[in-house]
Amino acid sequence: MSKNIDHLMHEDRRFPPPAAFAECAVARPELFERAAEDRLQFWADQAKSLVSWHTPFTRVLDWSNPPFATWFDDGTLNVAANCLDRHIDAGLGDRVAFYFEGEPGDRRAVTYGQLTDEVKRMANALESLGVTAGDRVAIYLPHIPEAAAAMLACARIGAPHSVVFGGFSAESLRSRIDDAEATIVITADGGNRKGKVLPLKPIVDAALRATDEQPAQSSVKHVVVVQRCGNEIEWMDERDHWWHELRDEAKPDHVALGFAAEHPLFILYTSGTTGKPKGILHTTGGYLTQAAFTHRNVFDLKPESDVYWCTADVGWITGHSYVVYGPLANGATSVMYEGTPDTPHTGRWWEIVERYGVTQLYTAPTAIRTFMKIGRAVPNEFDLSSLRLLGSVGEPINPEAWMWYHEVIGGGRAPIVDTWWQTETGAIMISALPGITTLKPGSAQSPIPGIAIDIVDDNGTPISTYDGGLLTVTQPWPSMLRGIWGDPGRFIETYWQKFGSAYFAGDGARRDSDGDVWLLGRVDDVMNVSGHRLSTAEIESALVSNPMVAEAAVVGAADDVTGQAVVAFVIIKSSHADGGSPADQSAQLRAHVAQQIGAIARPAKVYLVPELPKTRSGKIMRRLLRDVAEGRPIGDTTTLTDPAILSVINAQVH
Ligand code: PRX
Repeated sequence: MSKNIDHLMHEDRRFPPPAAFAECAVARPELFERAAEDRLQFWADQAKSLVSWHTPFTRVLDWSNPPFATWFDDGTLNVAANCLDRHIDAGLGDRVAFYFEGEPGDRRAVTYGQLTDEVKRMANALESLGVTAGDRVAIYLPHIPEAAAAMLACARIGAPHSVVFGGFSAESLRSRIDDAEATIVITADGGNRKGKVLPLKPIVDAALRATDEQPAQSSVKHVVVVQRCGNEIEWMDERDHWWHELRDEAKPDHVALGFAAEHPLFILYTSGTTGKPKGILHTTGGYLTQAAFTHRNVFDLKPESDVYWCTADVGWITGHSYVVYGPLANGATSVMYEGTPDTPHTGRWWEIVERYGVTQLYTAPTAIRTFMKIGRAVPNEFDLSSLRLLGSVGEPINPEAWMWYHEVIGGGRAPIVDTWWQTETGAIMISALPGITTLKPGSAQSPIPGIAIDIVDDNGTPISTYDGGLLTVTQPWPSMLRGIWGDPGRFIETYWQKFGSAYFAGDGARRDSDGDVWLLGRVDDVMNVSGHRLSTAEIESALVSNPMVAEAAVVGAADDVTGQAVVAFVIIKSSHADGGSPADQSAQLRAHVAQQIGAIARPAKVYLVPELPKTRSGKIMRRLLRDVAEGRPIGDTTTLTDPAILSVINAQVH
């Protein structure tokens, strides 16, 4: 077995750091030595050098009550002042924070000075709407500079934000608002997506409206609306406020108070193995330290000269840590692009790289595979010579995609960092360090300095061979999640019950004979579609909420472009058997899931089947359904009540 995997993952290609790159690289090999000598001192040094403190901390880590860690807990700081005011104080007010490019082609450069002014005014405006430290604010915006400003205005006044990706449905938004008991929603009239206006305010209105399904009034008192697209929207005078009016009327000065390092910074909902998303809680001091450290060292950031671009939306953790907090804490200049990569043409990203002279590009393998399909002729039309570093995140990058990225986008010169981390980890955990690591296509390589991982078997015993096992983080880290909002029991059960004081990531991994780490995908019922996390249980419960569905089982089937694709197997109630052709019913169910959760969760396929493969105890064998969906020979069916059902399902699918 071990030989087999090692053979499968055998990768001979090596890319040592180019000498010129290594010479000026931000990350120095001593980082590893210092972290190995004294891990806590190492993180304390980073926290002191990368973050400005209102009150310096004297304690580093308190792990006396695992899994509840505190970092730097007697220090106080203001995250927004770290991302803004201190750069102004350093004379960098004219430096561009964001080169914003809207999908329709509108452009604006937002300087640190302008962003600071906007954030101070909006902090005052939020306070005038009654928001105080600790109150939760939901943010449902397109990928525009106001999203960063909204997050920072919340951070400035100590109000934890809960950003909900603009592609989620009214139901998903409402459940997140309810769970966090948010009192304010910041949204926009609409955003631009694939050449059309995606109305957002109407979705907020629907989410807050009392209906038969959601009779209770929501906790929301005010809705703040950014005018982005000018689309017509309904207005409730006593509840709704234009962002620009609040901003223009607000006082320009705002004093940033220091908050405790363990004060909540944000909640970000992510899919777990049940139907209910988890509100992952992050705090300030440790989070900002690791976000800033990794952003600087993993992306080799030279803030004076670089133009860095992370393509993630602010609605995801990558957008939080590597569009907003990491880059702004480091005084970086970033590109922010509102739209999709192929609007209005398939060279849009490369045109943007050329226009701004982008130096670092951080994106997901699914995007790279999509570009590979389109072919190299498109990027070859643009001057990509400014790119000096490439990053990958969200799912394993297969070696072919790695090589294409390296050659076609990186001109064979730019190192690639494949960064493994999660919403829960808050910041990058496993990655090459450019200028130090000899790169190996397909492997995320090594934990960064100060991070300790292990690959273990089901009993928690470290795996010494090259076999696959379960990835764990064995020591607390500064940007670790501090809990699941309102549910400490689920926090313990999901991540800590299995291996005691080691964090269970939910990913399979293995080390090769050089000690490099390869990620093998999720080991639980979480899918990864285009680098986005989706839960099988959540989509199944959306399906069964449709009156025609008796039962549903969802699997993530391997897909060349999106990594995995959502495939659903559904039993239609006999009372609805005549409710349309199978193609119609399957189309209706795909639309139903999109309406319930959001377009990202829309199944690629919905198969109508007469029965699902179940064990005698009634458990659905999703593993076998995955075999069917991927067209593989079907695995062991001996535990099924009725093994014959698989041939029936198979015949339906193929
Ligand atoms: O399965 C891993 C995969 O994405 C999951 C985390 O998803 P999310 O919380 O949405 O955060 C995505 C962005 C950090 C992980 O459990 N994943 C993330 N990065 C990689 C990866 N799988 C392999 N290689 C990666 N570099």
